[in-house]
Amino acid sequence: MNCLSPSILSADFKILGEQIQQLDEAGAQYVHIDVMDGEFVPCITYGMPLIKSIRDCTERMFDVHLMIEEPIRYINDFAKAGADIITVHAEACKHLDRTIEAIKEKGLLAGVAINPATPVSAIIPILGKIDMVLIMTVNPGFGGQKLIPYTLDKVRELKKLLKEKGLKADIEVDGGVTLENVEMLLDAGANVIVAGSAVFHGEIEENVHRFLDILNS
Ligand code: DX5
Ligand code: ZN
Repeated sequence: MNCLSPSILSADFKILGEQIQQLDEAGAQYVHIDVMDGEFVPCITYGMPLIKSIRDCTERMFDVHLMIEEPIRYINDFAKAGADIITVHAEACKHLDRTIEAIKEKGLLAGVAINPATPVSAIIPILGKIDMVLIMTVNPGFGGQKLIPYTLDKVRELKKLLKEKGLKADIEVDGGVTLENVEMLLDAGANVIVAGSAVFHGEIEENVHRFLDILNS
């Protein structure tokens, strides 16, 4: 199934709860929550307290993207705060396998993200253990960037690899996704689509409907 995961990084935080309800009512399946630590990426965003406080705004899946060093230290806390999917960066984990185990032990879905310059081959050994691969289509750290075209080849490569191995992980793409390029990403093999500025700039519900029309066509 194709899912839309709007990134609240581009939301208006003074009315965040209302905007999350708008996403829900418009039919977005996930809420993408970008956690940044000022180490793995330059920015610092938000963490457990925010997730806890928006947890009762919606029953939609909380898709938590951890752009933090050694996320294994915080898996329990993010699980307690209300995450449904926790995605960690392969580049940020000394012990990626152990980190995935920690997520699965909490009964959550586990995702692994790779930066544009990290090859798909880096995650081959753990492909059978995870629920989702996040192919970053920009360098992580900021919303509103332009999609890097070669990352589409990585989506195609991963799709082919999963098929060859008979595995069923979701393929998520994140960064620079717009109503104009989303079809290309779906064609390449992505099925979980993150969009920040393309959802929150302008009319949220209308933007979600437009994305879902393409995702469901
Ligand atoms: C970037 C974040 C993204 C970001 C996407 O590091 O992981 O989720 O919010 O924003 P847009 O869709 O504006 O590129
Ligand atoms: Zn993200």
